[in-house]
Amino acid sequence: MDRSAGKIDLNNDMKIFLIGFMGSGKTTLGRKLAARMNYEFIDLDHKLEQQVELSIAEYFTLFGEDAFRKLEKDVLRRTPYPENAVISTGGGLPCYYDNMDWMKANGTVVYLKLAPKTLADRLENGKEERPLLQDKHGDALVAFIEQKLAERENFYSQANIVADGLSLTAEKLEEILGFNN
Ligand code: S3P
Repeated sequence: MDRSAGKIDLNNDMKIFLIGFMGSGKTTLGRKLAARMNYEFIDLDHKLEQQVELSIAEYFTLFGEDAFRKLEKDVLRRTPYPENAVISTGGGLPCYYDNMDWMKANGTVVYLKLAPKTLADRLENGKEERPLLQDKHGDALVAFIEQKLAERENFYSQANIVADGLSLTAEKLEEILGFNN
């Protein structure tokens, strides 16, 4: 675990943003963490879909990626967050506009880090709802993830906490965050 990015002041940081590549387990872990801590769970991809009444795949097809990035930036900023919340974010969100700075200014950011091959194995069956992965299989899927991760790592690694997504449990994360001593 790397907590060198700064001291975590829990009195001010009651919003916990989970970031990481598609398939890193942000939603699953986020739900569990929120339940343990009695926090509200918010899935920003889901908020966006509710707002436009379209799936993300449909939105990409109709309006393209640039429009999607702008919309996800707006959803990040305009969602009315409760004081205490665990928030899962879309895999690309930290890498566009100043979204990473905004999240760090408004909460604690946790990066769930996983190797490309592990992500590819997990994603092989979840591609339909993920427009960036459609038509990519096997080695081509691994290569795509390696390349995208390399591009995104600079952003992801600015998180307050970088955690090994493979071994991380909600209980462990609660402990790292200082809620379960
Ligand atoms: C994306 C990740 C997706 C979703 C969109 C784009 C990305 O979210 O926001 O398909 O660019 O990595 P998940 O990480 O929740 O799959």
